[in-house]
Amino acid sequence: MLTEWTQSESLRRHALAVEARVTACGEAEADRLGLTGAERAAERSAMIELYATTALLHDFDYERHPTPAEHPFVGVKELERLGWPIGVRTAILGHARYSGVPRVTHLDKSLFACYELSGFLTACALVKPSRAISDVEAASVRKNEG
Ligand SMILES: [Fe+2]
Repeated sequence: MLTEWTQSESLRRHALAVEARVTACGEAEADRLGLTGAERAAERSAMIELYATTALLHDFDYERHPTPAEHPFVGVKELERLGWPIGVRTAILGHARYSGVPRVTHLDKSLFACYELSGFLTACALVKPSRAISDVEAASVRKNEG
């Protein structure tokens, strides 16, 4: 669905970057909730998939509908039509400050935080000679934040 609606490589990369970070938040939250061990594996994997998918799709309508009047509302309407769960749709609405939708759940907050951070981390990577995120050190990110 992301690649059907989004042709831009940089928007696709943004989706993948946010996905990686939100997935890490989902894994940490699953640990915190005690979703560990074989008997909780299915629950854990469903939760992490929910986080990852929400992050991948948060901007899927942006290329076709970039104005604040349409994004992310058009996309969320399409997700609703296709039967995507309310938790996914609410988190996606909440990542746009102007939507007026509050960020309540851990997923809502994770998407919002990772989305905001994503552009900054990408900028930190682009000033490295390699332009690789793997060469960005946490200390230099913290220094640039200030
Ligand atoms: Fe967005």
